[in-house]
Amino acid sequence: MNITMIGTGYVGLVTGTCLAEFGHFVTCVDKIAEKIEALNSGKIPIYEPGLKDLVHKNTKEGRLKFTTNLSEAVPDSDAVFIAVGTPTSRRGDGYADLTYIYEAAREIAPHLSSYTTVIDKSTVPVGTARQVARIIRETNPDADFDIASNPEFLREGAAINDFMRPDRVVIGVDSERAEKVLRDIYKPLYLIETPIVCTTIETAELTKYAANAFLAIKISFINEIANVCEAVGADVTDLAKAIGMDKRIGPKFLHPGPGYGGSCFPKDTLALMRIVQEHGENVRLVEAAVEVNAAQKARMVKKIRETLGGSETGKTIAFLGLTFKPETDDMREAPSITIIPALMEKGAKIKAHDPQGMEEAKKYLPEGIKYVQNAYEACEGADAVVLMTEWNQYRSLDLERIKALLRQPVFIDLRNVYDPDRMLDLGFTYAGVGVLVKG
Ligand code: UDX
Repeated sequence: MNITMIGTGYVGLVTGTCLAEFGHFVTCVDKIAEKIEALNSGKIPIYEPGLKDLVHKNTKEGRLKFTTNLSEAVPDSDAVFIAVGTPTSRRGDGYADLTYIYEAAREIAPHLSSYTTVIDKSTVPVGTARQVARIIRETNPDADFDIASNPEFLREGAAINDFMRPDRVVIGVDSERAEKVLRDIYKPLYLIETPIVCTTIETAELTKYAANAFLAIKISFINEIANVCEAVGADVTDLAKAIGMDKRIGPKFLHPGPGYGGSCFPKDTLALMRIVQEHGENVRLVEAAVEVNAAQKARMVKKIRETLGGSETGKTIAFLGLTFKPETDDMREAPSITIIPALMEKGAKIKAHDPQGMEEAKKYLPEGIKYVQNAYEACEGADAVVLMTEWNQYRSLDLERIKALLRQPVFIDLRNVYDPDRMLDLGFTYAGVGVLVKG
């Protein structure tokens, strides 16, 4: 099949590349000429494990192309995916900004020459796909097309695997013709018996928000329970294991931490709240999850302060990890963006290391942070070390060495990577999130 992918951001680039790997002929279109030039010379603008190799392979084999010119690709395409950004609107009201989506619709329209399925891949409020269809019809009344919604559920850092082995594929359509096109696009997944949920366009659009909101609620829930564990002297790791064994609950997304971040949960929970308000309804659980998440970040600042003995003023704190999760260089809504400046405001000095995110971090964090080359350099002469993001390389640190490098052996583990008993045996003052620290 011939496919056009509008937008070479995270979702567009991963989806376009993986569809080429499925055997389709994919042209990715983006307005930013430098980005297309870079992609054409083999440079990948984001860090995502496995993506670079897959881009190179499919480009070489002639199934993946990059261009700034829509007219090169759209007229011969069976399907056109819209995968442009939908940031939170600049008005600061939580609404998703749909400017880029509508712009894409207007630009595609004149180039639709034969029957084409136009598929919305971006996360958009309910009703957007129909709005896109209306714009295309207005711009080009002769266009022969159907509109569809096909939300993505890709996790950064695991996006290729999530695309190749999804739990399910959701397609929202209102014509059999469009359904067939989408089923054909995902045909390679039939071999691994991936369920395809075929539904209405509105249901597909809302499914994405509901999935992300549920996961955000699950994380905020376990973060609150972790805080309760701290208050009553219980252990959240054992508790999460025990409740997660109940198949109705499931073990995933029950890891307490400094709060969720990233490009999806914070944005999509706010957007869902706005969509729902417009319809005169409420999503009180989602509102609570958002509040709990903000409070969790603030609580981490307090935790660091208290573990340092009551004040961070004049202290040097080593941060291991800055990105919102491991295996990405993405800093969007990372808890470190809230936690580090709060400590700096009170006079803390920060040394930081992140395996991939330091260049991005500089755009989000205040000046004055000392960025270093590895975890040990960060700990040298520091009054405490904070494990912020659970990158693999921080999971088996030489703890004796860390202890010797620190001015005082204070280890604040915001991802519960280390065993509290072992840390105490090694002579650390240790704090986790909701874990029982004896002694
Ligand atoms: C998420 C969804 O998982 C994905 O389906 C959707 O399409 C996009 O948003 P992503 O943001 O890449 O993906 O990362 P994810 O692994 O879901 O983690 C999001 C945040 O939650 C991270 O900050 C992570 O640290 C945090 N998290 C996750 C926890 O604090 N505890 C957990 O148990 C799981």
